[in-house]
Amino acid sequence: MVIKTALITGASSGIGQAFAEELAVSGTNLILVARSQDKLDKLAKQLKETASINVEVIVQDLTEPQAGQKVYKQVQDQGFRVDCLINNAGFGDYGPFAERELSKQLEMIQLNVTVLVELTHLFLSPMQQQGQGSIVNVASIAGFQALPYLSTYAATKAFVLSFTEALWAENKDKGINCLALCPGPTESNFFEVADFPQSFENKNNGSLTSAQTVVKDALKALENKQANVVTGGITNNLIVNSSRFFPREFLLQAVEKQFRA
Ligand SMILES: NC(=O)c1ccc[n+]([C@@H]2O[C@H](COP(=O)([O-])OP(=O)(O)OC[C@H]3O[C@@H](n4cnc5c(N)ncnc54)[C@H](OP(=O)(O)O)[C@@H]3O)[C@@H](O)[C@H]2O)c1
Repeated sequence: MVIKTALITGASSGIGQAFAEELAVSGTNLILVARSQDKLDKLAKQLKETASINVEVIVQDLTEPQAGQKVYKQVQDQGFRVDCLINNAGFGDYGPFAERELSKQLEMIQLNVTVLVELTHLFLSPMQQQGQGSIVNVASIAGFQALPYLSTYAATKAFVLSFTEALWAENKDKGINCLALCPGPTESNFFEVADFPQSFENKNNGSLTSAQTVVKDALKALENKQANVVTGGITNNLIVNSSRFFPREFLLQAVEKQFRA
């Protein structure tokens, strides 16, 4: 599968940056979206130096109203045809729900869910007209299991997983691949941004998958036309299947203990 032009949200670090670096190697032109202009400009410069590709930067806070429309309009105005959309921007927020800021929970839903739906809707129609394209929506293994102390986050990822798998089925015979990428714990700024306690970071250190590995697995799954891919090895695959073997309350209590600070 040859991707000509990919738009990546959240391209300024972690998994999004790794997508940009990997796709650049295979000659894909890139449109990089995030809030940090300095990081995006630096990455764009580096990618243009190492690969003969076109790299555009769109600086946009995707939690702003109509953010998806604004990004889409810029892409249209510049005459780009996006044949791969990677909805990757997202964040979590660790802690007991009632003690965390409501505004942050709503912002998270806006970024992880609303703008992802908006961008998917906007870019899918032209892909359908062309009869080809691909959409990678970054969910998480958290999409398979409710997570105490990450309640809103896990619920947003359950949405992304369900939404994307439905689109996979609607579009698979139309030449369009929709993939729900479900990483387990991955090296990035995620844990710091989510305000995880240091004790969790220490526990996770050494067991984090690299963002590069996650991206390689995702691109392989896209090539294989899978509806979802769980990255990070056998443990993560066991975790996402555990709800088949245990009562829901049992699992919820076990996870609550595991995630309690
Ligand atoms: N790391 C993990 O363990 C893990 C596991 C499963 C799923 N995921 C998912 O993977 C995706 C990427 O996260 P990551 O792990 O790579 O974390 P990260 O390093 O924190 O990257 C998050 C990206 O999202 C962008 N972003 C955040 N808020 C934004 C906003 N309001 N508007 C536009 N862009 C925004 C950030 O850029 P700016 O700050 O420059 O805007 C950054 O580029 C997320 O959807 C996350 O939920 C991560």
